[in-house]
Amino acid sequence: MEKPIIVQKHSLKLEMETGTYMWCSCGRSEKQPFCDGSHRGTHFKPEKVVITIWMVFISLIDNVIKPMVMGRKAPAPTLVIFLGAIGGFMLNGIIGLFIGAVILSLGYNIFHWWLHMNDVTE
Ligand code: FES
Repeated sequence: MEKPIIVQKHSLKLEMETGTYMWCSCGRSEKQPFCDGSHRGTHFKPEKVVITIWMVFISLIDNVIKPMVMGRKAPAPTLVIFLGAIGGFMLNGIIGLFIGAVILSLGYNIFHWWLHMNDVTE
């Protein structure tokens, strides 16, 4: 089985119009990163990529609205959990990602409880 040709190993920044693009997966195209049909005779097929304005809306939902909605009933604000995850990740890697969020959430709740410990309820 043939292997694809690696054209470049660093990232590529492209400004693209909305539309459908055929992405080269074989590495033989002269119009990289797009397919020019040079893959004929190999087992490679171009990857179809659709760029739409809808994707901007979806990424907004996924990165902004979803954490706000999912964090609505959480015992700690999403920002506290996020900062705990980032801080834990910086200190201990993948394990710290989870431990940092838990520790900062617990700290937040204990601090919140301590602040309101002497509140008088009627
Ligand atoms: S030229 Fe590479 S997939 Fe078509």
